Amino acid sequence: MSWDSSLEIGIEVIDNQHKELIAAVENSILTDSAQKGYDVFHSTMDFLESYVLQHFSDEESFQKYSNYPNYSVHKSLHEDLIQDLNEIKNQIDREGLNPKIIQAVNQFLLDWVIHHVSSADMQFGKYYRKWNSENMNQSSNIEREKVTT
Ligand SMILES: [Fe+2]
Repeated sequence: MSWDSSLEIGIEVIDNQHKELIAAVENSILTDSAQKGYDVFHSTMDFLESYVLQHFSDEESFQKYSNYPNYSVHKSLHEDLIQDLNEIKNQIDREGLNPKIIQAVNQFLLDWVIHHVSSADMQFGKYYRKWNSENMNQSSNIEREKVTT
């Protein structure tokens, strides 16, 4: 798995965040030895801790701003991902680190990228690009009206 331009939404800040996420997924999944696994795991969890809420709230802001009709459905998908992540954190508190949990985190990250970024986020990207181009046309129409009147 790696970043490619087919995953672009067309909003620079969101695309950069997705790139960061995919780099973290690659890093986490490609890790093989057990000790290295635990080290990478800690940095993956630290990354997710600071990343998830910020990223989802940024994405949702752009959706609200562009009147995205699937906003509430998309927001609830984010809430599901946050809940999954919280469950993983609780599991770590209960059981400590073990290969099963690392596996669960990797699976969580893969599901997120495969089922969310490359489907739900892409849908929004498609909508946003259309909305943006229509809005740009509108504002250029307004500019033209100003010029001609
Ligand atoms: Fe999303």
